[in-house]
Amino acid sequence: MTTSLAESANWKYLLQEFDMLYRHGSAGGSKAIRSHRKRVRDTLSAIVERNPRIVGREPQLKPVVEHLPRALDLGARTAVGGIARALAHVAGSLEWSYGYPTVPKALTRKYAYAEILGPGGPVEAPDLILGFVLFAPGTTYPQHAHQDIEESYVSVAGAWSENDGAVYAPGSLILNRSGVEHRITTGEQDPCLLAYAWTGAPERLAAPGMKFSSRRPARDGG
Ligand SMILES: [Fe+2]
Repeated sequence: MTTSLAESANWKYLLQEFDMLYRHGSAGGSKAIRSHRKRVRDTLSAIVERNPRIVGREPQLKPVVEHLPRALDLGARTAVGGIARALAHVAGSLEWSYGYPTVPKALTRKYAYAEILGPGGPVEAPDLILGFVLFAPGTTYPQHAHQDIEESYVSVAGAWSENDGAVYAPGSLILNRSGVEHRITTGEQDPCLLAYAWTGAPERLAAPGMKFSSRRPARDGG
């Protein structure tokens, strides 16, 4: 079923909360983060302005979605609780995916992501992707990079690290510029829910070509 954003109060509510994440809060003095935040909210405002279609995607679960209720409850108690509460209202219609052609078996129970806005919907837009990624407690999400895509994560629930650099808590924003390798590890106690935004050229956003980075040198014939 196809409708429009103006007719869909819950999707609109969720995008308003996304806008808040990228409008309020601090860039911590980083010019690159400030301009990324601005790009996300300016692109999002223009998309909302043109009243995009909402394309009915078939709801799809993955094993990790068992952890979503706790992630949303934890998120609702934090400074970015608005987005956790808004997400709860569309949770029943999300299409959870892995995003990679092949996923290590152990990882199939550990994570999944759901897009909110992008070339493939549910809110149709060619020039921005917004979504959520959910990790089970105690997950290592392998090293990867995104070519010609600038990615930010905003932490909504749980504690996690990118590479071995720091521990992030709800409200933290982490910028991964194009081509930067990153690996995610999550705390043992709680699931981890991150909101994310991808900016890039429409051709790239339509076909992001996800693959995990090989940490081994290529061998002859393999
Ligand atoms: Fe990433």
